[in-house]
Amino acid sequence: MSGPQPFVFAAGAEIKRHAPATERNRDVIAETLMKVLPAQGMVLEIASGTGEHVVHFAQIFPGLTWQPSDPDPIALASINAWRADCAVPNVRPTMLLDASTDWPIAQANAVVCINMVHISPWAATIGLLRNAAGILPPSAPLFIYGPFRQYDIPLAEGNAAFDTALRQQNPEWGLRYVEDIVTEARDVGLMLDQIIPMPSNNLSLIFRFR
Ligand SMILES: C[S@@+](CC[C@H](N)C(=O)[O-])C[C@H]1O[C@@H](n2cnc3c(N)ncnc32)[C@H](O)[C@@H]1O
Repeated sequence: MSGPQPFVFAAGAEIKRHAPATERNRDVIAETLMKVLPAQGMVLEIASGTGEHVVHFAQIFPGLTWQPSDPDPIALASINAWRADCAVPNVRPTMLLDASTDWPIAQANAVVCINMVHISPWAATIGLLRNAAGILPPSAPLFIYGPFRQYDIPLAEGNAAFDTALRQQNPEWGLRYVEDIVTEARDVGLMLDQIIPMPSNNLSLIFRFR
């Protein structure tokens, strides 16, 4: 999501949630993922949310198996409902996974995390990096998308307002500095490969396990 918008329920399906931002950002994210993801293998999605991204990406990338996850039982129910509704064969059943604790999965060929880093405690980002480094083979990508800060670049007005709103909602949330993430990533063997500017002042950060 590009702003502090609540999930809404899809008509006629109370369990299936809908985040309007996913419809706006899913194709531009998919275009970026095309340059990043391997042709085959398993992609672990962290913080799958409603599940709309994972069913969309699974249709665009039929050669990949997608493993959705989230720590929120309401999100897991929504993901499973979208999965059942779209009947995409290459989406696995959901996994209960909190990025900040040990992950119940031994290996993945890529890890994708969209719009979690700013809306969770810093421990979730540390856990994302540490656990991704533990399950990715050499040169495999960790893709992180969202709004960020950078030390030498003034924060766009919309992102500054979003950051304030997030911190008011939860003092442990807020836009993170790319440089801080890069430092933590390096400590666990993940090297920053690319920073890709995205619409609405978002960034895609691509790390690779060395
Ligand atoms: C803003 S939503 C983004 C959902 C989805 N990726 C999207 O872009 O629509 C944030 C998601 O992060 C998840 N989340 C929060 N804390 C987390 C954590 N510690 N580990 C994994 N996911 C977390 C929430 O449950 C929620 O689904």
